[in-house]
Amino acid sequence: MQLSKQQLQDLETNGFLILPEHFSPAEVEAIRSRLPRLFAEDSEANIIERHSGEVRTAMGLHLRDELFADLVRHPRLIEPAHQILDEPVYVQQDKVNVKAAFSGEVWQWHTDFATHHEEDGVPQPLALNLHILLDEVSEFNGPLYFLPRSHRDGEHAARLDDETTSYALWVTDLDRVRDMANKHGMVSATGKPGTVLIFHDTLLHGSPNNMSPWDRGIFSLIVNPVSNACTTTTRPDYKHHRDLTPVAPVADDCLARYMPVPVAKSA
Ligand code: SIN
Ligand code: MN
Repeated sequence: MQLSKQQLQDLETNGFLILPEHFSPAEVEAIRSRLPRLFAEDSEANIIERHSGEVRTAMGLHLRDELFADLVRHPRLIEPAHQILDEPVYVQQDKVNVKAAFSGEVWQWHTDFATHHEEDGVPQPLALNLHILLDEVSEFNGPLYFLPRSHRDGEHAARLDDETTSYALWVTDLDRVRDMANKHGMVSATGKPGTVLIFHDTLLHGSPNNMSPWDRGIFSLIVNPVSNACTTTTRPDYKHHRDLTPVAPVADDCLARYMPVPVAKSA
């Protein structure tokens, strides 16, 4: 699956791309069907929200479930990543961010690169974040907010915030966020289930609490060029995988075998 020249140009200009309904309802259902077992596991890779006790993010999924082992190699994610980066990539991180109805908590303003660089010693901001929306995401249930063009507009000063939520994150200075938002505006990344978001490592983004009655699950895969791998290993493997094997795409219909078999009608 190849992105068009226009899509590549939009990604370069804005720092993000939205591909509506890139995965089918049946594929999304197959992905969602794996989640109850994973969320119920007693695993340190399931990070729990500070207040509600719900899973905030379930990480390292390609090592915990065979569907996710296929999904991180899916050609509708990996072929665009190869096209954009033009280099072999490894799976740096994969997870489902849950943002449960009524209780899912904020992801503060940040760039992914701040954490990749400060925590893992990643040299250059080349990693790509590829999301699949697993629920319908609207203005109500905690969509990602992007600050378009912020990925190519200078340095974003950051500091470690390990107090606001249960997930320590290098967050962006709010004066900087204000400047970028006033200069470039803000986009809310909404869409139907199966919609894919692709964004650059230096794009400023965040998402508000989910006070709606609707869940907002998102699958997130971060891939990084093998030539730009982490240089420190202080964070656990599920936050930054050490296996630098280049990802090779699998078949486009790789999720079909996880779909429920329709029951034949009797005559
Ligand atoms: C979110 O799930 O809202 C945040 C995801 C991200 O920062 O990539
Ligand atoms: Mn992020």
